[in-house]
Amino acid sequence: MRFDVLTLFPNMFSSPFQESIVGKAIDKGLIEIRMINIRDFALDKHQIVDDAPYGGGQGMVMKVEPIVRAIEFVKSEDASTRTVYLTPQGKPFDQNKARELSSHSHLALLCGRYEGVDERVREFFVDEEISIGDYVLTGGELAAMVMIDAVSRLLPGVLGSERSAAEDSFCESLLEHPQYIRPSNFRGKSVPEILLSGNHEAISSWRRRETLKRTFMRRPDLIAKAALTKEDRKLLQEIPKEKESQEAGDGL
Ligand code: 6GU
Repeated sequence: MRFDVLTLFPNMFSSPFQESIVGKAIDKGLIEIRMINIRDFALDKHQIVDDAPYGGGQGMVMKVEPIVRAIEFVKSEDASTRTVYLTPQGKPFDQNKARELSSHSHLALLCGRYEGVDERVREFFVDEEISIGDYVLTGGELAAMVMIDAVSRLLPGVLGSERSAAEDSFCESLLEHPQYIRPSNFRGKSVPEILLSGNHEAISSWRRRETLKRTFMRRPDLIAKAALTKEDRKLLQEIPKEKESQEAGDGL
């Protein structure tokens, strides 16, 4: 899969993608991340990319011509490129959106700066607008990095094969159960007995219960959206009774 990042600050992207899983995915040729400097597509000799808004007001807005020329350059190579504008006014990014975007072979991510872009870019030259949450960043670059990371890990081969099974929507719409590793006792705090029992069925059921409990306590909104089995619902019914007594201990 290829990501083309249209930005005024291509250097922001150099180190985050050299490391770890995304770095390896690039080395393996599973993904390609290309920086397109919007300034290179400016028409004038000073390469101006912003201007004051018609009608006056605070701040500067990104010019339409350099952005559209950059988008057209990307589309001239692959007309099927999906063009996404990163803006706090966009639709909220979530796991479903990540999954949907991972089905495209080529994404162009337009990073806004200043007070945004000329409205004609949004109306006529991008396919969709996405926000990564209800807070304001100084630009779309960090949001583009978040999206590239979340989309890349869904592509075949990016995570090890042993982990890809956990990628279905069923697993990812709930919070993870607690994990423990050695030592079995750390400063008097011990690992739940059942995890040492070797009883795989009992461990599975404990984990499912912890997943449901944690999600119910921290993110009840996710429980409402999740596809739960009859078994899950039975486990869930036991939780409200525990909730009050556990909340203080969980630091919630
Ligand atoms: Cl995509 N851009 C900016 N500037 N701020 C944001 C955002 C995007 N998503 C959340 N906040």
